[in-house]
Amino acid sequence: MRAFNSWYEDAGVRVGPRRKPGDDLGKKFFPDHLIPHLGHPLVQALPDELRRYLSAQYLYQWLNFTAEFEIAVVVRATQQIADGRSGVSLERELRRDAMRICVDEQYHALHSVDVVDQVENSAGIPSLPYDFAPFLAHLDGIGESYPGHRKLVQLLQVVVFETLITSLIEDVPKDTEVMTVVRDTVRDHAEDERRHHAYFALFFKELWAQLDRSERETVSRLLPDVIIRSLQPATRSARAALGVAGFSPARTDQIIAESFDRQSVMAGITIASAKTVALLERCGVLDVPGARERFQNAGFTTVR
Ligand SMILES: [Fe+2]
Ligand SMILES: [Fe+2]
Repeated sequence: MRAFNSWYEDAGVRVGPRRKPGDDLGKKFFPDHLIPHLGHPLVQALPDELRRYLSAQYLYQWLNFTAEFEIAVVVRATQQIADGRSGVSLERELRRDAMRICVDEQYHALHSVDVVDQVENSAGIPSLPYDFAPFLAHLDGIGESYPGHRKLVQLLQVVVFETLITSLIEDVPKDTEVMTVVRDTVRDHAEDERRHHAYFALFFKELWAQLDRSERETVSRLLPDVIIRSLQPATRSARAALGVAGFSPARTDQIIAESFDRQSVMAGITIASAKTVALLERCGVLDVPGARERFQNAGFTTVR
């Protein structure tokens, strides 16, 4: 597809430099406003050093999450598309583009852990252990009620994730208070993801066109949950970091509950998935009988 015409000249893995920490390590690890618990009054009252520790851990968990997600979720489904095993028939060039995406995502995973390693060394703040398994189990849990559609669920996960626009991707590169290595890392990643976004919008159109009526009904039932579970903020790492910062388990629970309350989490999900939902609308997903109501009931207040 057109978005991939210049892949050999533009892709991060082909032409991007290795990002290394510079001499601005005194700057922020991550924008404060993107770390929900950092705005909590109990956390605001902490000494600067501990707040810095919490932001470093937030950056690490985001990078570690990215590294795992790319391989376990994005490559898992995209390789099937590349190999012609996805159940969606595609012309050869589109399968080759899927292969290029797999290469991009492997590189994003490496890029992410490479930055964790280097920032750990330069800043002298070690990363807490990261466990991706609970997130993946939760995300894949959607397929459990639809065992015959496991592959379809995996394709939907990747379509949703690759068409989301999170405030993180938008805000971090512009934030001059954040250290350059972090801004460059997010910007590099976002540049590749623009191509992926175009690809998965097209892929979903093909997928949808090839489904029969009962499969369309299933997809329209699955999607609200796929979107919510893909975007639900993981709080385990934040919990662990708050513990190290000295909060008791009860205080930690309180901070997490108050910083990640249902209403603001759902508001964030609605904003981040606006482009995805618009794609679904264009393809006719919301015209399946009952689909609009299912999205509304799930909390997508912008769906009318
Ligand atoms: Fe990626
Ligand atoms: Fe991607």
